[in-house]
Amino acid sequence: MCGIVGYIGKRDVAPLLLEGLQRLEYRGYDSAGVVITSPKATGLKMVKAKGRVRDLEARVPKRFTGTTGIAHTRWATHGAPSDENAHPHMSADNKVAVVHNGIIDNATELRAKLEADGVVFLSETDTEVLTHLVARSEAPTLEERVRQALKLVEGTYGIAVMHADFNDRIVVARNGSPVVLGIGEKEMFVASDVAALVAHTRQVVTLDDGEMATLKADDFRTYTTEGSRTTATPTTVEWEAESYDMGGHDTYMHKEIYEQVDAVDRVLRGRIDDRFSTVHLGGLNLDARAARGIRRVKILGCGTSYHAGQIGAQMIEELARIPADAEPASEFRYRDPVVDPDTLYIAVSQSGETYDVLAAVQELKRKGARVLGVVNVVGSAIARETDGGVYVHAGPEVCVVSTKCFTNTVVAFGLLALHLGRIRDLSVADGKRIIEGLRKLPGQISEILAGEDEIKKLAEQFTDAKSMLFIGRVRGYPVAREASLKLKEVSYIHAEAYPASELKHGPLALIEPAMPTVAIVPDDDLLEKNRAALEEIKARSGKIVAVAHQVQEKADHTIVVPKNEDELDPILMGIPLQLLAYHTALALGRDIDKPRNLAKSVTVE
Ligand code: M6R
Repeated sequence: MCGIVGYIGKRDVAPLLLEGLQRLEYRGYDSAGVVITSPKATGLKMVKAKGRVRDLEARVPKRFTGTTGIAHTRWATHGAPSDENAHPHMSADNKVAVVHNGIIDNATELRAKLEADGVVFLSETDTEVLTHLVARSEAPTLEERVRQALKLVEGTYGIAVMHADFNDRIVVARNGSPVVLGIGEKEMFVASDVAALVAHTRQVVTLDDGEMATLKADDFRTYTTEGSRTTATPTTVEWEAESYDMGGHDTYMHKEIYEQVDAVDRVLRGRIDDRFSTVHLGGLNLDARAARGIRRVKILGCGTSYHAGQIGAQMIEELARIPADAEPASEFRYRDPVVDPDTLYIAVSQSGETYDVLAAVQELKRKGARVLGVVNVVGSAIARETDGGVYVHAGPEVCVVSTKCFTNTVVAFGLLALHLGRIRDLSVADGKRIIEGLRKLPGQISEILAGEDEIKKLAEQFTDAKSMLFIGRVRGYPVAREASLKLKEVSYIHAEAYPASELKHGPLALIEPAMPTVAIVPDDDLLEKNRAALEEIKARSGKIVAVAHQVQEKADHTIVVPKNEDELDPILMGIPLQLLAYHTALALGRDIDKPRNLAKSVTVE
């Protein structure tokens, strides 16, 4: 989704901003632009282009120098991808430039009013409305002009504004779309994502909704959109610039699949308490009495995070014996849910910025619910809005398609389930058993990854498939759902996931030799039931790949994965299917790290 980067200092700003935009490319975008100035300049200079950052770079003229600038990668919402619709948007007198992430809901209405007043629009975007509103304000300061403009707009925004008459500063504001300030030595940065900052500084300030900031080369200050000062204490980002490099792999997806060994080790590190056969989760903010009072758990997330939440719900039910379920956050917030004071709500998000999840959290908080977060990005909006939670410590995930964050999120749920279980009725022996299982995970993931060649060969058989079916039961069903999402996102092959128990209620009609089925068949109490499903498919000449703990006779191919504790098996069973999706997409020549039409972080509705 859209990205913002800005700088004010002494360096040559254009190359620095272009490099920042490249670091944001992973979020998905269709056009890019940059505007710059310097203290002695009389105006603003702008270049923008449809296409990639390299297309923009090709258009940058030789003498495009300055020391202050803002830049943007756009993901089209209002108006098709085009040079005109790319940000920044400039006022008619070329004095005001705005870059914007988010959506202005009342843009049509405001545009009509401005047009009636004679304003000529150059683009179809909602953002251009903001530019003209700032340009028409006659307030004495840029801050006040921006504030007046923002009072008129409804919707979400992360914005950065420059003005030729106030060229010693950049003014930024946030409402529902991330804005992070990067604090340097006599230089300041701003971005919508720390990925664009960490090469220059790891000291950051994340703005809250309703907050604005003024950046000058040697100073910054933050204040509310109402004008009162706020305190901003910089924090240090753990992620280093190198974490964003490809590290010898051909794609980020491949790199991130391989990083799972270390990532899982990291999410466990320092949390296991052998003495009491439990785990410590520092940021949970949930004491034992409150934990014992929970009557239900409701997990909310979107896409892959929702699937991780489904596995998490199963683990919580099994280990802590608390009724638990997961629901897409995007649906939850629109169905006027009953908010129950004895329910623990858990918001799950890799980015911590997904709008649907954030909005669900805000609605729950408004109704007085207790909401925890299971989040990867430290200090992100969801992490800050929730009452406490568990960081998943997967490190930055650059590929649009989530892999290591899924696995780490599920492990984090394993930890939470164990913690809640040991406060309630899970025995010491069972606590020990789960801890042993958790400790085995990194080694077992290595074993699975060692089988990549076999999975690569297998994937080559699926490049002609028009559609694939993924099935699993209970613990295996969310694994099937996530594997099906992975395949469709990255290879564009249609895939559908079904509970294996539902086969004869409809999907069996689809089975024929051209419709392969991937079945999750763990060695647990449902093994025989799962085998019966394989029989049903085989009897109809369906081709089967099983992911199992032992070779399945009815399957055409079995990917054998190491056995862990029954409750933890889902963590491992999805990993070979990440590789299957990857190699199928690779064989089809897909843009693996940036699948069409998708963005890494969906910060709009
Ligand atoms: O950042 P989040 O975990 O909140 O993102 C939620 C979904 O948008 C995300 O998981 C999406 O489904 C990915 N493309 C999955 O690979």
